[in-house]
Amino acid sequence: MRQPIVAGNWKMNGTLESVRELVAGLKAGVGEVNAAEVVVCAPSIYLSEVSSLVEGSAIKLGSQDVSNAASGAYTGEISGAMLNDFGTQYAIVGHSERRHGRGESDELVAEKFKAAQDAGLIPILCIGELLEEREEGVTEQVCARQMDAVINAYGVESLKNSVVAYEPVWAIGTGKTASPEQAQEVHAFVRAHVAKQDAGVAAGLRIQYGGSMNAGNAAELLAQEDIDGGLIGGASLKADDFLTICRAGG
Ligand code: 13P
Repeated sequence: MRQPIVAGNWKMNGTLESVRELVAGLKAGVGEVNAAEVVVCAPSIYLSEVSSLVEGSAIKLGSQDVSNAASGAYTGEISGAMLNDFGTQYAIVGHSERRHGRGESDELVAEKFKAAQDAGLIPILCIGELLEEREEGVTEQVCARQMDAVINAYGVESLKNSVVAYEPVWAIGTGKTASPEQAQEVHAFVRAHVAKQDAGVAAGLRIQYGGSMNAGNAAELLAQEDIDGGLIGGASLKADDFLTICRAGG
């Protein structure tokens, strides 16, 4: 049985004041979430503050990125060990806003995945196709290639201690959610792709859906057999909406 995991990706949003307010709202309601693991991925500068605020609650902390390097002369980068120092347990790697917005390659994302694990963090590996790739009919090839960058470099076993987030790029921040059937199809494909190498790892792998998931559409998406949670952008900035999604996850 895979425990559902719902994570909020706050992206580059918020102020110290709004972050405090949001966490207070989440703490007030998280007790009504039964089964799902609840994670918030705050901007790095707020991780220390959020770490203190969520202490003693069921809310776990994640970062939105991590350096591929362990330490050294990498101006502006933040290492997994530094994130760990502040109680961060998860690290998003390969978000499309970094792959496509900041030119991160499959190889760099795989290195970040490994760096996160080496520092004791659980990577949330984002994969997903662009609109033109979906229209060309290469969605599965794109997702397989992004998965294989990690599997070929670090072995299928490395997926054991990770989460995958399928985020079709055309659904992110657009209000155009993948239909439950469209999402389930890709999730099942990704699981089957991993199962070709290791059926046990595939069966245990949690695969989140991300892309315009909200309080209204979450239940239907999360009811799909291979959808094990959500990675939520815009709707994670409102405590009530995010908690509704978390409750829909179990
Ligand atoms: P939205 O929920 O705003 O579409 O963003 C999804 C996302 O990118 C989460 O990582």
